[in-house]
Amino acid sequence: MLRSRADGDEERFLAIALQIAAAEARQGHRTNAEELRSAVDAIRAQRGDSPGVPVAFAQPRGELSSVLDLRDPQIRLSNIVLSPAIGERLAKVVLQQEKRSWLREHNKAPVRRLLFAGPPGSGKTMSAEGLAGELRLPLFVVRLDSLITRYMGETAAKLRLVFDETLQKRGVYLFDEFDAVGGHRSASNDVAEMRRVLNSFLQFMEEPSTTDSVIVAATNHPELLDKALQRRFDEVLMFELPSDEQVREVVKSNLKPLKFPRIAWKSVVKAAEGLSQSEIARATEEAVKEAILSERSNVSTSDIVGQLEARQSVKKIFQS
Ligand SMILES: Nc1ncnc2c1ncn2[C@@H]1O[C@H](COP(=O)(O)OP(=O)(O)OP(=O)(O)O)[C@@H](O)[C@H]1O
Ligand SMILES: [Mg+2]
Repeated sequence: MLRSRADGDEERFLAIALQIAAAEARQGHRTNAEELRSAVDAIRAQRGDSPGVPVAFAQPRGELSSVLDLRDPQIRLSNIVLSPAIGERLAKVVLQQEKRSWLREHNKAPVRRLLFAGPPGSGKTMSAEGLAGELRLPLFVVRLDSLITRYMGETAAKLRLVFDETLQKRGVYLFDEFDAVGGHRSASNDVAEMRRVLNSFLQFMEEPSTTDSVIVAATNHPELLDKALQRRFDEVLMFELPSDEQVREVVKSNLKPLKFPRIAWKSVVKAAEGLSQSEIARATEEAVKEAILSERSNVSTSDIVGQLEARQSVKKIFQS
């Protein structure tokens, strides 16, 4: 703490002060915690609208390099086909993050812990990237395969490193395929271990963050995450397979650079039934590639329907 002060890194200094406040609160020292927190708030208010921590688009070094993967977001939320409900809630996250110093002045924290649940290929990873793009923040994908090791102590220590990083570098941190942490291991000693990892995850999530890094957990199996866990998130967003309207939008957004006069949307929607946004996007891309290779500048309904049907049969093979 003293070192960060000496280095002139005030944001870090305040972050540490808040960590101490949290530790005090955990030990039941409420007054101490409150005093520390309000002192930090007073300093922040005095400084006015501070730029906060520097936002660095750099791959983390050292031990973290194998756990965190930096991705420079290439898309915005407007590039994603979302249901109005999900779109609105993501817009709310963006608004609160953008106006976070305003909220902080009133002792309120912006929404920053999100759970994305839903079937494969429905746009969870893409939405995390779009959110980072919208906020002009780096996206750090947490690699759960290297985070979770056979040695319990090691896993918890790595998790600590990741959360320390969220306090130091503002960014969007994505725990993809979060069910790996969130439970469901069959062997019983594994269950006990994962529980402990999960508990430290929950504790870290409770710590106040002055950097307002956004933490996104994505899962295909929300039913495996227990209620206690779901409660810790500020927002739980349920992704779904596309509506008819969304099928059209996903197809349209993948047809560029070709033209698509007179598409029979009814047939397209019917052929896409049960397919995910991702499968529809890939099928459309294939239709476009074929048209390009046969030197056509238009894509027809049958090109698209043909590719969608091909996807349907691939899907059946994997299901049986
Ligand atoms: N809502 C969407 N709008 C537009 N394109 C989408 C959407 N969802 C998925 N796609 C397309 O499918 C690809 C894969 O989607 P994404 O990785 O976001 O799915 P996911 O929900 O994270 O799936 P998984 O659970 O398998 O990780 C995207 O890169 C994009 O091309
Ligand atoms: Mg994903």
